Amino acid sequence: MDKITVVGAGNVGATAAQRVAEKELAREVVLIDIAEGIPQGKGLDQWESAPIEGFDSRVVGSNGYEESAGSGIYIVTAGIARKPGMSRDDLLTTNAGIVRQVAENIARVSPDAIIIMVSNPLDVMCYVAMKASGFPRERVIGMAGVLDTARYRSFLALEADVSVEDIQAMVLGGHGDTMVPLISYTTVSGIPITQLISKEKLDAIVDRTRNGGAEIVKYLKTGSAYYAPSAGAVQMAEAIVKDKKRILPCAAWLQGEYGMSDLFLGVPCKLGRNGLEQIIEVELTDAERDELKKSADAVLEPMKLV
Ligand code: APR
Repeated sequence: MDKITVVGAGNVGATAAQRVAEKELAREVVLIDIAEGIPQGKGLDQWESAPIEGFDSRVVGSNGYEESAGSGIYIVTAGIARKPGMSRDDLLTTNAGIVRQVAENIARVSPDAIIIMVSNPLDVMCYVAMKASGFPRERVIGMAGVLDTARYRSFLALEADVSVEDIQAMVLGGHGDTMVPLISYTTVSGIPITQLISKEKLDAIVDRTRNGGAEIVKYLKTGSAYYAPSAGAVQMAEAIVKDKKRILPCAAWLQGEYGMSDLFLGVPCKLGRNGLEQIIEVELTDAERDELKKSADAVLEPMKLV
């Protein structure tokens, strides 16, 4: 790909830009922020690491959007992050204003781009970005499920004392306390997880996953997680750039899938060159279906406010 742009040069954005550059997913990586000097300084600093790390993706910072024109992908991380005691929904009004303006600019300079949304509250910010950009659902996809699933997999790997690579899992639903980790689809190299970890321990891991973001905020105090969130966004970008057809849990605009319509919710998505190429409908137990519905309700409520 010629160009990938990351909007927001804060913790998540700058780390995402670095990961994109180190993986050489694009010839040019543009980092945009409203803070004067920050994207330029971080971009130049990253480019100066290129001779050491051995990548040729040019990283450039900017306060405007012109430099980013023609980007194939925009990873949007602009906005404020959580502080201790705040829920993702507390960020709603501020981040909706920011994301609206960002999405309008993207549509203006790169009308064919794919947006990977990261700003929170994630599912609602996807909706704001889709409305403001006028892009079809194939080109507005939210990063939440990949992160929630990574947290779940990392905890499972610790408990079972196995490689994280051998854990396959899927966390669906909204990016909040109502997310739905699917124990029935969790395996270690194909072995159902219930054969390796007790129900009690699994319940505790599900609970820790649901509160995974808050656990980091509590430690950091001045901000929220960024290493794993940036890795999640870049994994999605990689699936698109390399047309990998990966099946990843992403926030997608539902149009009848899972019996729901007109909201963004975390579901299994096929990602390739065209962005969201397919939503996979998996069989759910009645309990999982109920949980997904509850999660949808938790997304619909704040959606009314934007
Ligand atoms: N345009 C571009 N950048 C903006 C704008 C805007 N209109 N408004 C704010 N920003 C920038 C800020 O200047 C800051 O550099 O967004 C950046 C946000 O960075 P951090 O405060 O470090 O936040 P971060 O931890 O990166 O989280 C960003 O991602 O995971 C989510 O919940 C998180 O919504 C938050 C977002």
